[in-house]
Amino acid sequence: MAVLMDGKALAAKIKAEIKAQAGALRAKGTVPGLAVVIVGSDPASLRYVKHKKRDCAECDIESYEYALPEETGMTELLELIDRLNRDPKVHGILVQMPLPKGYDEQRVLYSISPSKDVDAFHPENVGLISIGTPRFLPCTPAGVMAMLDAYGIDPKGRECVVVGRSNIVGKPQSMLLLQRHGTVTVCHSRTNNLAEVTRRADILVCAVGKMGLITGDMVKPGAVVVDVAMNVKPDGKLTGDVVFSEVEPKASCITPVPGGVGPMTRVMLLRNTITAAGGAL
Ligand code: GUN
Repeated sequence: MAVLMDGKALAAKIKAEIKAQAGALRAKGTVPGLAVVIVGSDPASLRYVKHKKRDCAECDIESYEYALPEETGMTELLELIDRLNRDPKVHGILVQMPLPKGYDEQRVLYSISPSKDVDAFHPENVGLISIGTPRFLPCTPAGVMAMLDAYGIDPKGRECVVVGRSNIVGKPQSMLLLQRHGTVTVCHSRTNNLAEVTRRADILVCAVGKMGLITGDMVKPGAVVVDVAMNVKPDGKLTGDVVFSEVEPKASCITPVPGGVGPMTRVMLLRNTITAAGGAL
């Protein structure tokens, strides 16, 4: 039986620390503020934004929502970001992805001031992460690292396999594990014999978005398995990439979906906002 890594409980604990930091900043006259920009009406994005606003309220961080209609256009969106970049009340800016068709996501993300880029998507921040001097940590990979730390799992010298090479998770995750002295392999859709590679992992992080991808035979006995994915099953419930019923009996530690990495990702956004506002965490 594996230890279940309870992201929900850990996130609640970290939230209490963040709220205390927000209070300390307020006492010094700084109200930490996060601007959340959403364009269009994608239901999943609307849900994420609602959660982010609620998280901010729970931690005494001010949130400023900008819900723009789909037909807004690049010019107006870039003008808004420019205003937010110059607004001293706004310490962090998050533009919810994906943007509707016709928007240049890269141009939008690059227009956010690196010092307010709490997603850590700007090339300057990606570069700082890759040379080991991050300004902000990318939310999901940072959430994974915080969870490993909380459960006493040290990547140092261990075989770490990351499945997925996205800019949001896979690539920055590999950087953070490398920084902590893991021996890191990144797998992707073109990897030959995925199972052979994943079976080497002491720490396996799955971030693909493909239900049923990681089966029991792909996991080494005693491995730590972190499932970042959130796939929606036909019944509407969430599931990860890992076949939990097969992998859990073999793993030493495993994250549930939901209740694993998801809550940790959300809390790391709050942490970055506090960092952006000048708080110490
Ligand atoms: N859409 C899905 N995940 C994310 C995220 O972490 N940041 C932003 N900006 N959009 C997202």
